[in-house]
Amino acid sequence: MSIHEQDPAVLAEVALTDLLAPASSANSFLMDVLTGMSQPQKQIPCKYLYDQRGSQLFDQICELDEYYLTRTEVSIMKKKAGEMATACGPGCMLVEFGSGSSVKTRYLLDELESPAAYVPIDISRDHLIDSACSIAESYPGLEVLPVCADFTQPIHLPDSMIEPQRRVAYFPGSTLGNFDPAFQKQFFQQTREMVGPSGGLLIGADLKKDRATLEAAYDDREGVTREFNYNLLRRINRELEADFDPQKFRYQATYQEEPGRVEMVLISREKQQVRIAEEFFDLEKGEAILTEHSYKFDRQSMQELGHQTGWELKAMWTDPQDLFGIYYLEAK
Ligand code: AVJ
Repeated sequence: MSIHEQDPAVLAEVALTDLLAPASSANSFLMDVLTGMSQPQKQIPCKYLYDQRGSQLFDQICELDEYYLTRTEVSIMKKKAGEMATACGPGCMLVEFGSGSSVKTRYLLDELESPAAYVPIDISRDHLIDSACSIAESYPGLEVLPVCADFTQPIHLPDSMIEPQRRVAYFPGSTLGNFDPAFQKQFFQQTREMVGPSGGLLIGADLKKDRATLEAAYDDREGVTREFNYNLLRRINRELEADFDPQKFRYQATYQEEPGRVEMVLISREKQQVRIAEEFFDLEKGEAILTEHSYKFDRQSMQELGHQTGWELKAMWTDPQDLFGIYYLEAK
């Protein structure tokens, strides 16, 4: 949907100045894939899983019996948003990373006491505009200040009309798990800078648990997650003139208790050579291409991560089965 199709009454509530960034990076996909495939451990950055088809498949993953994450996080939001809002305090500016469709955010916005503004940040301009407008429509009087940006980069927050009591970053979806530990730290530090001295961080992250549950969540019976991974190869074929044959790879998800992550790989069924644009890559039989890491957390590891990066863990909410955790941290 383009900006011009929006109801002008709704648009009036949404600042447009921050929607113009960022410059498209058409060529970095190729660079990232060539660089990753040249590493001793071949790898492709997981953000490229989400083209149009990939996003559809991810939505399908979220509906699977085995993939408990999304529905569990939503159930915690439903039950505990009131307590979370109390932790955030009155008059806060809520800043959401990777806002997507802002479904979980609504539970929070329903409970927040006179929030100063809502700042959704997303790389996808279309999603951002859609969700910013629909939030503005549902919450009249709430200033919505969308920022189109890559939230893994440091972000300068827009000023709101009402001076906020504090800024709170909201990062649901367990996306933190896709960051390697060094970047988890950097991200926590830069978020701490962004929200300032009295700021907060409300973050959802999958909990460590038994191997069988975790491995099933990332390798479902219907094969949707496998297809999600094959789609990455198809996307590379299409967009980068490569010749991957998905059939020559099998998909595998393994939980490593140390360092506490699910590792997703595509394993070559045979010795083969693949071409990507002008370059050739040799794969041995059994050689893996890493497509994604999904780190798992618990109260202790979240507290430790916060401790190292200027945050103090103030509260944690889970579901009755201890599948998923939502944490509130405050700037130290
Ligand atoms: C979107 C990062 C939360 O790690 O659980 C799901 C991505 N990959 N199934 C996750 C994913 C395969 C997902 N996150």
